[in-house]
Amino acid sequence: YIVVLDYGSQYNQLIVRRIRDLGVYAELVHPDDFFSCDLPQVKGVILSGGPNSVYDENAPKLETKLLDLKIPILGICYGMQLLVHTLGGVVESNDLREYGNTELNITKDNPLTKGLAFSFNVWMSHGDVVKTLPKGFISVASSKTTDHAMMMHETQPIYGIQFHPEVRNTVHGIEILDHFVKDICKMDKNWSIPAFIEQKTLEIRELVKDGHVICALSGGVDSSVVTALLAHILKDQFTPIFVDHGLLRKDEALDVQNTFKRDFETNLITVDAKDRFFAKLKGISDPEQKRKIIGNEFIKVFEEQIKNFKDAKYLAQGTLYTDVIESGTKTAQTIKSHHNVGGLPKNMKLILIEPLNTLFKDEVRDLGIRLGLPESIVNRQPFPGPGLAIRILGDITPDKIRIVQESDFILREEIKNHGLDKSIWQYFTVLTPLKTVGVMGDNRTYDYVLVIRAVTSIDGMTADFAQIPYETLQKISNRMTNEVKGINRVVYDITSKPPGTIEWE
Ligand code: XMP
Repeated sequence: YIVVLDYGSQYNQLIVRRIRDLGVYAELVHPDDFFSCDLPQVKGVILSGGPNSVYDENAPKLETKLLDLKIPILGICYGMQLLVHTLGGVVESNDLREYGNTELNITKDNPLTKGLAFSFNVWMSHGDVVKTLPKGFISVASSKTTDHAMMMHETQPIYGIQFHPEVRNTVHGIEILDHFVKDICKMDKNWSIPAFIEQKTLEIRELVKDGHVICALSGGVDSSVVTALLAHILKDQFTPIFVDHGLLRKDEALDVQNTFKRDFETNLITVDAKDRFFAKLKGISDPEQKRKIIGNEFIKVFEEQIKNFKDAKYLAQGTLYTDVIESGTKTAQTIKSHHNVGGLPKNMKLILIEPLNTLFKDEVRDLGIRLGLPESIVNRQPFPGPGLAIRILGDITPDKIRIVQESDFILREEIKNHGLDKSIWQYFTVLTPLKTVGVMGDNRTYDYVLVIRAVTSIDGMTADFAQIPYETLQKISNRMTNEVKGINRVVYDITSKPPGTIEWE
């Protein structure tokens, strides 16, 4: 595989993604951890970009031992400057950053740009520039800010490029990475989702032997894909447990059961815990308290279920690669509190398995589709672990849950009917505790105000309110006030994040 040493650039995950898209497995590795890698398997090393200057006091370093291994190396941006600095060349610090598109001119034939144009646009984002190359290196491309936009060693497979091939704005970026992995590292392109399934099948069978695995299925994308994968690999040695807390969207609990019990023929256990959750949530208005109660109650129910599985040895969980990278742990053997079921029992004697912990979200979606999961599950929008409880402001009653479920269902239907479901990132309704006066027929009404929330976003960290056309909003509002008993006014939230959050609680 290819190791991408993580020097901190915001594009690092993208380098890994691009290489995997080329059919070669790649992993992001902290520079300090390089020598813990399975070195005989490492066929190439990419030194990533990063925010530092090589002259910064705490600038991350390059261990020269790495160069002794004779593994092909590609330094990108900071990675190139680090190579130059470490090997005796000169990097000049520069207060001005070069940021954006610039024209690259190839000045010498080289394996990275073989067969490509002699001049094309690339994406630059750097402060310092390479002034003098280290001994043994030659320059193979220039741009208006540097004579050394690309370099290569005369006899060894060591390359450096100042621009970012992983960014789409770099015209031949993918081809350059392709040349590196295929021609220079001589790697076969055999990484794919079907190959992943094959490898996981061997791995998990070998690990589990005749043991039994359980998992908590929430109906979300990650836990659904884990369930589908383990159903495929382990058949009867696997039991997914679905705790129905009554706070899912309309028909979702039923969909989960139909998909996994009927279509996937798993031993799915559904625990109807609606009454327990309602009882615990009765009279509670504080959002953080709601979250805590739901998290704790979930753990209790799940622990009770585990007791019925005396022979279970393993617990599967849908941790993704981004969770692993973000939590900064070297191995993913800890149960994370951010998991959407609110954290699982801490002192369980079960061994954790996380079959998705090397995959990115869209790879997980691809895996789900290949395992036969329906689009409706695989492309599900994000949904908070505490479910509809945090979309009902104030205390929760079964009737308010009905209002949110019915209005949310209408919203989903109309968003889909109007072809907006792909472009809007997340959309849902929120029930306020406000009541306003209205009129219906000849009668005065006094009912709840319902909010429509719909946002566009990439990752949920920032978001803009979605610009749903007025006609669509009109149709939605009409249907909601006519079809959902208990509301007489619908408002549209036009706040972006920041300053608002996506959810209201
Ligand atoms: P906010 O409201 O913070 O939401 O802008 C960002 C994203 O996170 C989801 N969200 C949650 N997910 N448990 C979850 O699993 C929670 O308590 C929770 N609160 C918010 C939200 O739906 C959005 O996608």
